[in-house]
This record gives sequence, C-alpha cells and structure tokens, in this order.
Amino acid sequence: MALRDGLQGRVTVQGLVKRYGPVNAVDDVSLEVGSGEFLALLGPSGSGKTTILMSIAGFEYPDEGRILIGEEEVTWAPPNKRNLGMVFQRYTLFPHMSVLENIAFPLKMRGIGRAEREERARAALATVRLGQMGDRKPAQLSGGQQQRVAIARAIVYQPRVLLMDEPLSALDKNLREEMQIEIKHLQREIGITVIFVTHDQTEALTMADRVAVLDHGRLQQLGAPRDLYEAPETAFVAGFIGETNFCEGRLSRPAMPGDPILVTLEAGGQMQATAAQALPAGERVKIALRPERLRVLPAGTEGPTARVTEAIYAGNATTLMLEGQGGQLLRARIPAGAGMHEPRPGESVRLAWQQADARAFLA
Ligand SMILES: Nc1ncnc2c1ncn2[C@@H]1O[C@H](COP(=O)(O)OP(=O)(O)OP(=O)(O)O)[C@@H](O)[C@H]1O
Ligand SMILES: [Mg+2]
Repeated sequence: MALRDGLQGRVTVQGLVKRYGPVNAVDDVSLEVGSGEFLALLGPSGSGKTTILMSIAGFEYPDEGRILIGEEEVTWAPPNKRNLGMVFQRYTLFPHMSVLENIAFPLKMRGIGRAEREERARAALATVRLGQMGDRKPAQLSGGQQQRVAIARAIVYQPRVLLMDEPLSALDKNLREEMQIEIKHLQREIGITVIFVTHDQTEALTMADRVAVLDHGRLQQLGAPRDLYEAPETAFVAGFIGETNFCEGRLSRPAMPGDPILVTLEAGGQMQATAAQALPAGERVKIALRPERLRVLPAGTEGPTARVTEAIYAGNATTLMLEGQGGQLLRARIPAGAGMHEPRPGESVRLAWQQADARAFLA
C-alpha cells in the first residue's frame, strides 16, 4: 500500500459542539491531526471521546462546528463519503463469512470485481500477519486475531484515516500490549492517519505521537506524551496523567505562567512552586509534585519535614508514604540502585524538590 501523500490524511475539527439534552457531550473542541499522525483521544468515561470520533466518522452530526478531512469539509457528509476506516471495541465481524470474505466485504460494497477483491483482501490479511487464516470463520480465531481481521477490513480500501474506538479493551493485558506495538508498526508502515480512543493513559502515551486529553467534553490539553507528563497545563491533566501529589494553598500575589511563587499551604507552612497558569492573588491553588521528583533526605538539616508511614518495595523502586506538616499526605518514589537514602517506617525525614517541578494550578 502506498504512503498517503500530502495533506490528504489531515483531520481538522473546529469548534465542535454536541449536546444531548442538557449534557454538552462535546464542548467546543478544536484540534488538528496531521497526515500520517497517530493521535490518541484520552479521558475518563463520559468525557466525549466516542462522540468526537463518531462525529468525524459521520455517524453523529454536530450541533456546532466543522469537520474537514484533507481540504474537504465533511461535516454533513454521510459516513461512506468520508473514506475512513473504523474499528470498534467489539469485533463486529460477520460470523457466517470466512475471514477473507469479511475483509473483502467493503470492496464488494464498492463494486470492485471478484479477482481484485480477493487479491487486495489477501494483501490486507498479510499486512496484519494472518496470511494463513483466510479460510477460517471468525469464531475459529482468538480475540486478538479477530481484532486484526477487523483492522484488515478497515484498511483494505486504503482509507486516508483510520478511526479506532477502544479496539483493544476486550483483550487481556499481554495480548493488548503486543497489539499496541503491532498497530503502531502497521500505522508507520502504511502511513495512515490514526485517531485512537482510549481511557488507558499508558496505552495513549505509548502509542500516540500526540494525545488529546478530554474531561467533561472539553479539551484540556493536546500535546506530545512527554509534554503532558512533564508540563501539564491544568490540574486535571496533572492528576490524570501519571501519579502526582497535590498540596492546596493560597497565593498572596498574582503570578504569570513560569513565575516562581510561594504558596501558603492549608495544611500549614509555605511551599515554593512555579505557576503553571496565570494565578490571581487570593485564589486557592493546587500544587502538583510527582512522587519521583520529591526528594527524601536524612533529617537534621533545615527544611520541611515529614514522617515515613510506610515503605512499599516494588523491585525497581520503593514508594514511601509520608505524613508532612498538618497531616499532609505525600508519596515519594525512590528508584532502586540509585544509592539514595531509603528511610524506614517511623523515621523522620527532610523533603526537598526543585521549584520548577512543583507546578501550581487554579484549584
Ligand atoms: N446517544 C446519546 N444520548 C444521550 N447522551 C449521550 C449519547 N451518547 C453519549 N451521551 C452522553 O454524552 C457524554 C459523552 O459520551 P461519550 O460516549 O462520547 O463518552 P466517552 O468518553 O466515549 O466515554 P466511555 O469511555 O465510557 O466510552 C456522556 O455524558 C454520555 O452519557
Ligand atoms: Mg466511548
């Protein structure tokens, strides 16, 4: 299959709004997916992921906004005029047809002759590495194999864009991880644009070039996995991606993004942090600090202190549960083999962190 060229596979969503009664399922979402890019839509249940995907596919029509594929507006076009492939959570194969017949089906619908159908179906089957299984019925395949057939069926007519809605969530963990790598590989190989819905952050971070994080129908942040983890722009993203400690407090002076600040904590004491967004004076703020960025030092020197309540060994790291000033609960993660101080439960310790790693958001 040839590499998609130019801007053909670009997907643009502009100001998308979709309401169901009083619920804004999608609330003014704009995003652009580059041709050949792998974008994950990530968010908790009910955040609007499927609704966005269905609007792009043409199975839902928006209340406001526009959708473009390549240069062409398709907001009101029926699904079969959008040239998209679609893979759902459930395999949705036709049980009475063989694997090859299943894959050839979209070509039959497009009026392509038998010989060409068979040839292209065989090529698609080989692409998902099931070359020998064309004559079987779906029920004679494992879950992962069935999902690969569904992918082959979605790419057999060489769509510009492949939409996938939680395609791996019915698979067990090992198979799921294997398929994540396989789908990523396939996407690179055929150069197709992929929009992939998941509520699993590890899946999103490992597979996607960029991730769109959604909450309550709103786009919280769109960025590369590393940016989302290291530079979250909202408290929601900081809490949703990876693990984080939150400390709440108030600011006495306003701050702009990037400013070093001193926050008076509700639990008592003050904390040095960095404003992650514009923060007005007097507002409640939430400081996010990753467990691996919280350093635990022997007691005795100056600085904030805490007591270790638990030390949980997990091979590659030890997680410390800490009780700081005013009963503030914190976690710290100490990597194994780094020669760092590993205190025991009951021990008093001193805490330290880089000011840039403590990011303050509006609470
Ligand atoms: N056909 C519908 N009628 C009424 N409400 C709907 C309909 N479809 C979705 N919703 C509502 O819109 C919101 C977004 O739903 P959506 O299915 O897009 O979420 P999601 O992020 O895909 O969630 P999940 O991870 O559970 O699949 C939810 O509050 C949902 O209840
Ligand atoms: Mg969904």
